[in-house]
Amino acid sequence: MKSVLVLYMSRGGHTARIARRLCEGIVSAGGRAEMMDINEASHEGVEWSRYDVVAFGAPVLYGTYDKSVFRFIEAHRTALEAKPNSFFNVSVVARTPEKATVAGNRYLQKFLQLSPWRPRDLKVIAGKVDYPSWPWHERFMIGLIMKMTHGPTDKTAVIDYTDWDDVKVYASHLLTLA
Ligand SMILES: Cc1cc2nc3c(=O)[nH]c(=O)nc-3n(C[C@H](O)[C@H](O)[C@H](O)COP(=O)(O)O)c2cc1C
Repeated sequence: MKSVLVLYMSRGGHTARIARRLCEGIVSAGGRAEMMDINEASHEGVEWSRYDVVAFGAPVLYGTYDKSVFRFIEAHRTALEAKPNSFFNVSVVARTPEKATVAGNRYLQKFLQLSPWRPRDLKVIAGKVDYPSWPWHERFMIGLIMKMTHGPTDKTAVIDYTDWDDVKVYASHLLTLA
């Protein structure tokens, strides 16, 4: 049975939820799956030999990624590159079909510029708008980003843009990378 490790960084919990759904999807497709926050992975270590495939997901925050994402990649690049691997990003701009593609998502292109790890496989996933959960200054800043990208600006909006059926398809796809 093939085994997939889903590593993730999540600020507000949505990427963690995607990682969990990926694990469920991998198990329903006949594989084994484990998810691990990169904070846990950094401190507790990863038994890389237990996995056939490694997926890594991170949300776009202010047009880039949390520093911990690149720190983790720098520290574990060799291990990441040693297996079939995939990177997925989570962003609100990916709510439109053209920005939900690898070529059309500039944040994915930015990841490729900044990351010393070259993932063999890439995926774009639309994330969640959750204004009420964000502190006022983030509500304000994200409101500006949404205005520029023609997204929702209503500060009471909670909108889950993730295509969960597509997440399931990606889960099965990860198994095929093994
Ligand atoms: C501080 C902050 C900044 C964000 N900046 C962007 C952005 O620049 N572009 C974008 O498309 N989405 C942006 N988002 C939306 C997140 O990518 C989206 O909410 C994602 O689902 C968050 O995942 P998480 O809950 O795992 O942290 C931002 C969200 C937050 C909280």
